[in-house]
Amino acid sequence: MSSTEFVRLPKNVLPVNYTLELQPDFTNFTFTGRVDIDVKVSSETNTVLLNSAELSFKEAVFETATGTKMTSSDVKLDEPNELATIVFPQALPIGLGKLHISYTGILNDKLKGFYRSKYVHPSGEERYAATTQFEAADARRALPCWDEPALKATFDVTIIAEENKTVLSNMPLLDAKQVEGNQSLRRFRFDRTPIMSTYLLAFVIGEYDYIEDKDRNGVLIRVYTPLGKQELGRFALEVAVKTLPFYTDYFRISYPLPKLDLIAIADFAAGAMENWGLVTYRETALLVDPKNSSLMSKQTVAIVVGHELAHQWFGNIVTMEWWTHLWLNEGFASWIEYLCVDHCLPELDIWTHFVNSDYCRALELDSLKNSHPIEVPVGPPSEVDEIFDAISYSKGATAIRMLHSYIGDDAFRTGLHNYLEKFKYRNAVTEDLWEALTEASKKPVNQLMDLWTSQTGYPYINISHSINPSGETVLQLSQQRFFSNGAKPTEEENFLWKVPITVVTKSSYPNVHKEILLEKRTDELNLGVLGANDWIKLNKNTIGMYRSNYSPELLLRLSSVIREQTLHPTDRLGLQSDVFALSQAGLLSAADVLKFLEGYSAEENVTVWRDLVSNLMSLSHTLLNTDFQPQFQAFVVKLLKPISTKLGWDPIQDESGLQGMCRATVLRTLGINGDRDTIDEAKRRLEAHFKGNLIPADLRSAVYSSALYDSEEALLDKLIDLHNKSDLQEEKMRIATSLGSVRSEALIKKVLHFALSPSVRSQDSVTVICAVCSNTSTKLSSDLTWQFVKENWDTIHSRYSSGFLITRLCKTVSENFATQKDYEDVEAFFKAHPVAAAQRSIQQGLESIQVNQAWLKRDEQKLRSFLSA
Ligand code: BES
Ligand code: ZN
Repeated sequence: MSSTEFVRLPKNVLPVNYTLELQPDFTNFTFTGRVDIDVKVSSETNTVLLNSAELSFKEAVFETATGTKMTSSDVKLDEPNELATIVFPQALPIGLGKLHISYTGILNDKLKGFYRSKYVHPSGEERYAATTQFEAADARRALPCWDEPALKATFDVTIIAEENKTVLSNMPLLDAKQVEGNQSLRRFRFDRTPIMSTYLLAFVIGEYDYIEDKDRNGVLIRVYTPLGKQELGRFALEVAVKTLPFYTDYFRISYPLPKLDLIAIADFAAGAMENWGLVTYRETALLVDPKNSSLMSKQTVAIVVGHELAHQWFGNIVTMEWWTHLWLNEGFASWIEYLCVDHCLPELDIWTHFVNSDYCRALELDSLKNSHPIEVPVGPPSEVDEIFDAISYSKGATAIRMLHSYIGDDAFRTGLHNYLEKFKYRNAVTEDLWEALTEASKKPVNQLMDLWTSQTGYPYINISHSINPSGETVLQLSQQRFFSNGAKPTEEENFLWKVPITVVTKSSYPNVHKEILLEKRTDELNLGVLGANDWIKLNKNTIGMYRSNYSPELLLRLSSVIREQTLHPTDRLGLQSDVFALSQAGLLSAADVLKFLEGYSAEENVTVWRDLVSNLMSLSHTLLNTDFQPQFQAFVVKLLKPISTKLGWDPIQDESGLQGMCRATVLRTLGINGDRDTIDEAKRRLEAHFKGNLIPADLRSAVYSSALYDSEEALLDKLIDLHNKSDLQEEKMRIATSLGSVRSEALIKKVLHFALSPSVRSQDSVTVICAVCSNTSTKLSSDLTWQFVKENWDTIHSRYSSGFLITRLCKTVSENFATQKDYEDVEAFFKAHPVAAAQRSIQQGLESIQVNQAWLKRDEQKLRSFLSA
């Protein structure tokens, strides 16, 4: 069904409270359910239309306020649209009533709705837990309901399960009485929830251990882990205990529930889910093992906890009116998670990470013609999966960060508080937030932000300067939509934005020299009298959503300041990101980029390196289609030598955690680019690791990847064995993704095969396949991955038929190609094998191939001569 035909549920009968009782059956993987729904009938009707998917109705009865009962005469199922129409022989009276439904359903293995999750009991036995994932629209797989975010109600949940099980739901347990006639079963009854959306309902039945603490305001927080592993929840618990009061203060609204549980679920599709009071996580997003976890993993855990707990207010108390506004939830949480981590763990320099992980990701995707606006019409909820992307999350977060900086923290917090108070326990749309912020800031937030949320893309700013007769420096600025294929925007595409621009100069830094809201196509900015060769930089801290295209002279001045390392890491990161993007679009030659990058050989910041390396590797991927890619790899190795010499292999006394992370990034890059010393040392250390002399967790990924460079099968087998024996999911994934570094045809095939084998959980296979595909040291990797995906398409498609995993796969396996032949092959394959949920991603992948092709055509010769000079 296309978005135009989609209609929302009628509002003539609406839920007020659901009393739900469910009993899972772990032998047949089914469940029985009974739901008594208090409803309000507002106009006479003899049918009730609600959502239901893969449920079998046994009986449906309507009971009037006075107790008269009427059994339904029919239940019509519309399976494709996941609807059920309950037909009654007579009209239902207007007013309050009760709808009683008994039914059965499937405890599925698709990671959505009410599903089963496999785990290994400490006894070695394989067992199952039952858990839920209802966002976006899968509550209907557990109970017939009005499964739309705006149709809020309260919930009384009861679960019937064995008495020794851990049974959790959104609210605290009221009691767990024995079920009559069955010694081992109990009826776990939970307190009533606040008024909330169906997608936030959750329950878990399984075997878990937990640790607990109270936050400053007395809220009981527990972290549930696999049996015997409760200590792995310690770090997340510490973060949660700080985070909850942080948000309570920031929003000036108390956490509304009496308890908060965080639980690690073995089989889990997303990273985490903000179910109110019962937040579910995949294991790698919650568990930290002090001996075996990297600092990077701790950082991830802190970010994910910060993100999901923000939703307990922003999303759960005030919810988006429809999925069109998904970005409001996700973009906001993806911004404030950093504010919170910066508060809890200031040593992580997390805002620099933001620029790498959200800002740059957003600008990369949003420079494609096949991008979409932040605010995108969504029809049926099945279309939501596709907007679970870098636009909703990262561009959304980047827009909020830009706005926050533009109006300032005080106005932002006031507006936010007013918004949450005004819409609490209800729903809101984007404009509602803008309105609250407009009022609080007295600035035209509405007009400014509309342009960023409703227009696809963002501009690049051309910057040149002149000296006026009074000796003052005047900047000439102009804006134009940025496309990474370098296309000149057509009249309709060439939007105008209101761009808040900051300018810093040699004399003002780190303070802002001047700022301007660029609203027109072109404008001028007088900077006053500057020193003759003073550098001038736009976009302090890389907050504004635009690329800066400097005149050659201004760029040259900046290149010397890069060498001096005086700019903030966010500025250094942003500059190299801009030059890469501009060169991709043909605005700067790739050889000039490499010349500019030579200034980064003095770089010491891990996040700057991570972003720079990822840009270099993506260029490297394209260069696999030339005969001089090895020279490019040598260039990369040379660029990294100073920092690798400085950091060495072993911790330097009193070094920071970030330096340790930097060492890992640097060594891994050297190893996968064929640096012999690194590879040999990695192999030595790996041998010692196998013998029990353990490599520190931070360095393991670098060692595993580098050691596999020579593609020795015995080593691969030993690592696979290490993977299979490890009981820490983080370690398993660290190994599994490192396996992508092998370079021989046979071993690449072996790793791809391993990715789909039972050794890798279904939720992780895509990550492993993508890791193989991203290997830039042989073209075989991406070619064989593509071939493998085609050959195993039926398996892959049936496993991930819908959902964001397949969207990611389709894009990743295609986007690094750079030839016409590959383009045609990808296009033909997806024409023959369409993926409804990944249409846009496939177009994005194809467009990237064209971008790479054009780049290569334009810059190949210049790069060749630069690299052989
Ligand atoms: N609400 C989402 C999870 C979600 C979104 C499930 C859309 C189904 C459809 C959750 O808050 C989230 O964003 N999780 C992220 C982690 C986060 C730290 C970015 C994820 O799962 O990747
Ligand atoms: Zn989220």
